[in-house]
Amino acid sequence: MRTEIIKTIGHEENIDEQLMQAASCLAGGGLVAFPTETVYGLGADALNEKAAAKIYAAKGRPSDNPLIVHIAKVSDMEVLAHVNERARLLAESFWPGPLTIVLPKKDIVPSGTTGGLDTVAIRMPSHPAALSLIRNAGVYVAAPSANTSGRPSPTKASHVEEDMMGRIDYIVDGGEVGIGIESTIVDVSGEETVILRPGYITKEMLELVVGPVQMDPALDKPLTEDVRPKAPGMKYTHYAPKASLTIVEGENVPAHIVQLVKEKQEQGFQVGIMCAKETEDFYKGQADYIACVGERTHEETVAAKLYAALRDFDQTEVAYIYAESFRGEGISVAIMNRLLKAAGQKVIHV
Ligand code: TXA
Ligand code: MG
Repeated sequence: MRTEIIKTIGHEENIDEQLMQAASCLAGGGLVAFPTETVYGLGADALNEKAAAKIYAAKGRPSDNPLIVHIAKVSDMEVLAHVNERARLLAESFWPGPLTIVLPKKDIVPSGTTGGLDTVAIRMPSHPAALSLIRNAGVYVAAPSANTSGRPSPTKASHVEEDMMGRIDYIVDGGEVGIGIESTIVDVSGEETVILRPGYITKEMLELVVGPVQMDPALDKPLTEDVRPKAPGMKYTHYAPKASLTIVEGENVPAHIVQLVKEKQEQGFQVGIMCAKETEDFYKGQADYIACVGERTHEETVAAKLYAALRDFDQTEVAYIYAESFRGEGISVAIMNRLLKAAGQKVIHV
């Protein structure tokens, strides 16, 4: 298959015109990757089971892992799901934006899109290219992150090209995304309001709108028979680089990381470090590859760079990576959730 790339970056004023062909491709059952404010998505007509099936094939995604349905109009939520008051309040406060809402599905949504679940995950993105595509295609767009299953989500079009070239119809190149980690998923289908995946919209932000919110207790725990996350996708190994990644936390982390790197280098391995801007200088010359992921004082810069850094390590020969910890409040909860998954929950306390 030939994959066509459409560059919209820098000339967004006539976005509808530029994306017209990609929109008709979506409407006709094709696959189109596009930027959202969180990460790049791989879109197909959500109500066309055959089109949705192509997504699973292109990504190599397990078929029990449901897709998020993207809409361009808040009221479309009512077409797809049985909507309650909490969902309405959340949509009013956070859409368009990086929040996905899980609700009991209506019959119109095929089980091929929801992985057999009787709920559906819905999100209205804010990125102009995403909105233009959904609106002009005239369909609801099922879109997982546009990476090969298991790899870090794409935050720029070159990441999508790495994983999807020749496997899909179009890639819309809108430059680097803003947020860099996937949307917060909140389940309001039951009595309790539960975060199934942390993201840019925090627990505290949600609580201001709908009152008490729980975190899915299975998040950030090693997977066992009794501990199963409620979002099926959260149970898979995810984001992991080829090298073995370990998070280091505690006192004097930089000095300990340098020590750990030395030990592995003495055994003949190449070793990488993932760190914040604040400590980058300390590590100069101390490892084979150093990825600085942004500033601790501006955690959103860490979120924005995290996946690109994880992908960059795959272009090097390092066999081990030591990462500083980014535990904290706000978006740090989401950053650590992704970093822990990438590390297979490996943490050294020093
Ligand atoms: O920011 C995002 O949400 C991006 C962009 C492209 O919008 N999309 C995204 O999709 O991250 P994906 O497929 O990579 O992750 C969707 C997650 C998976 O963990 C899946 O299991 C969960 O959402 N999910 C989807 N439908 C669900 C449902 N009905 N109940 C529980 N979890 C669901
Ligand atoms: Mg994904």
